Amino acid sequence: MVNLSKGASRIYGEAAFEVLAKAQELERQKKSILHFEIGEPDIETPKNIIRAGIRAIQEKKTHYTPSIGIMELRKVIQDEVEKTRGYRPDLKQVVITPGLKPGIFFSMLAIVDPGDEVIYQDPGYPTYGSVAAFLGAQQVMVPLLEENEFRMSPDDIRDRITKKTKLIVVNSPQNPTGSVMTKSEMEEIAELAEQHDIYLVSDEIYSKMTYDTHHYSPTVRDAAKERTVLLDGFSKYYAMTGWRLGYMVVPHAMAERLKDFLVSAVSCTAAFTQWAGIEALTGDQSFIPEMMARFKEKRDRIVEGLNSVPGFRCQVPKGAFYAFPNIKGTGMTSQECADHLLNKAGVASLPGTAFGPYGEGYLRFSYATTLKNIDSAIERIKRSM
Ligand SMILES: Cc1ncc(COP(=O)(O)O)c(C=O)c1O
Repeated sequence: MVNLSKGASRIYGEAAFEVLAKAQELERQKKSILHFEIGEPDIETPKNIIRAGIRAIQEKKTHYTPSIGIMELRKVIQDEVEKTRGYRPDLKQVVITPGLKPGIFFSMLAIVDPGDEVIYQDPGYPTYGSVAAFLGAQQVMVPLLEENEFRMSPDDIRDRITKKTKLIVVNSPQNPTGSVMTKSEMEEIAELAEQHDIYLVSDEIYSKMTYDTHHYSPTVRDAAKERTVLLDGFSKYYAMTGWRLGYMVVPHAMAERLKDFLVSAVSCTAAFTQWAGIEALTGDQSFIPEMMARFKEKRDRIVEGLNSVPGFRCQVPKGAFYAFPNIKGTGMTSQECADHLLNKAGVASLPGTAFGPYGEGYLRFSYATTLKNIDSAIERIKRSM
């Protein structure tokens, strides 16, 4: 038999989709399942954005666009970055992608060679490690510790930098812990990248999803001109996961190469989606604070509930829509506990180990669901223990 590539055996997927499939199988067997596994808002895309998308289709915005995106949206993103991060990127630095995720893939493809070392958070979003493994890079994990509120410590990064370090990936607000890095931590990490001549990719998909605190981008240091890459997108805070729309702000030299990556891989991002993105950024923004107020209520309810389960202990996350309880007191591993909750309580969550070895002893609950479901889940969990 002809072998597949070596990279094909190294790339890996995401547990959320596997658990969802398991949960749906149980539902087919008429079991009642409460879903806390998938990381997407439980609300519809705002109507004004939907209308803009439909209008774009009716106006025949259904053809190829430039590979790096339409000028109109790229200009709006220039304004957006200036407003939210405080620096104005050149138009040439702004690249549109079909969701944020291709931005991770393409920036790592552009930066990392086999044998290079890539530093990232553990537990963390699985794509960074998967793509690093695919590229034949060394995966260097920085543990996120409960005692540090799951924030990535600049000292831990410093300790792991070697001559082979090529890239640091940061993600704040963070998936799966909901932690938010402080301004001074971000500044310190950006400074480290500069001192050691290392690239820094900042995944800011939850940038507008914080509670009583602010997101700070490490790309402010060089305005994404030298070594930092800003990744953001519309999936989470505009509830647009299925539209597939994200953006990158990158150094000029990288933008040139990305053009060719995009042409080779996807040609371009869907045209009408890009036009809907303009409405998302320039239309009424009240949707976001309203959604975040509801999320805050859900966060407080689930954290309180999880803390009332014997053997569970849960911190109050400062961003995103994930709770990450410590379940070590149950005597079960993460996987055992997640399986137990799914099979015995009909509650689908993710084992912390789906996000890396340092996730052992934790579960992730996506609380993008109703307060009623949260209450029922806590009741069911308690009954099953
Ligand atoms: C940290 C992080 N980055 C990226 C993504 C994916 O974003 P998108 O759907 O826009 O590709 C997610 C989705 O769960 C995420 O949690």
